[in-house]
Amino acid sequence: MNLRIPGPTPLPPEVQAALSRQMIGHRSKACADIVAEATPSLQEMFGTKADMLILTASGTGAMEAAVANFLSPGDEVLVVSVGKFGERFGKIARTYGANVTQLDFTYGQAADPQAIASALAANPHYKAVFVTHNETSTGVTNDLSAIGEIVGRYPALLIVDSVSGASALPLEMDRWGLDVVVSGAQKGWMIPPGLAFIAVNERAWAAHATATMPRFYFDLSAARKSAAKNQTPYTPAVGLLFGLQEALRLMRKEGFAQVLDRHRRLGERTRAGVKKLGLRLFADEAHASNSVTAVRAPEGVNAEEIRARLLADYDILVAGGQGELKGHIFRIGHLGWVSEKDIDEVLQALSEIL
Ligand SMILES: Cc1ncc(COP(=O)(O)O)c(C=O)c1O
Repeated sequence: MNLRIPGPTPLPPEVQAALSRQMIGHRSKACADIVAEATPSLQEMFGTKADMLILTASGTGAMEAAVANFLSPGDEVLVVSVGKFGERFGKIARTYGANVTQLDFTYGQAADPQAIASALAANPHYKAVFVTHNETSTGVTNDLSAIGEIVGRYPALLIVDSVSGASALPLEMDRWGLDVVVSGAQKGWMIPPGLAFIAVNERAWAAHATATMPRFYFDLSAARKSAAKNQTPYTPAVGLLFGLQEALRLMRKEGFAQVLDRHRRLGERTRAGVKKLGLRLFADEAHASNSVTAVRAPEGVNAEEIRARLLADYDILVAGGQGELKGHIFRIGHLGWVSEKDIDEVLQALSEIL
């Protein structure tokens, strides 16, 4: 199977082998050693020296932690949304009682930093701005550097969903002025679903100290206290930690810069190949993602039909459109353990189907 959805992504054989190891105690030195080894690598990929906490949760769990730990009910927040995962941040924030203003951009477009500047000028008192780094539902990457520069002029925290960005796309949390960043294991990190990472800087910890939204499992004070001992407050997904250790070793061996460069090349290759077939990209190409490409189905063709043919005849699984995009687009994942050959196979199969 050529698994070309934007997560879960395929596992390198070394990671598969690590996942089959015998269990160890979660309070053992062996387990703490894994966390101690992984943490600096995660920080490097996030571009931060801030606290890095490993959660046993899917990406959405880390998003929930990023809401519940830094805000109080009634706080005014600005949610910048360019697709389904931006909308999810809005839903979580509303669920926890935040007073949400949602700034929606047309699907396929990136967030316009000037529109964010205007929203902040209209209300300079937002407690937080939420933004998606890489919008997996539309194949768009937002310009976090520009957004960070604007939000940095205001007291608001900048809270970022980089679930499908970190480890595949450039991310400079400290330089760009991001206060909280979350990511999820099953995307570029080349391990199965079940771990999430959340980086928290000192500004965010200061907000955390007075934030009253309810939290227990995701209380990051507890996670921070345990992380000081390279542990987690509750039993972590130990098997996935084995996988994480191995995946990070593989990334270090390739070189972190080389990993990002490979994603850039594969993104360009996918977009060029798709266009050569006469298909149209869904995302504004100036902001097209290098971890997932969304493709419009040709006029009069249901994208689900293309997906079904790819699966039945070529054993290739690509993702469909989410919500109202279903049938109109399909999405090719090119993040994590992926090579030119994987992409060329998809392009070849598409050309035959078309
Ligand atoms: C950008 C983005 N945010 C959040 C999520 C949610 O992550 P999970 O499905 O692991 O909860 C995803 C997963 O597809 C994603 O791509």
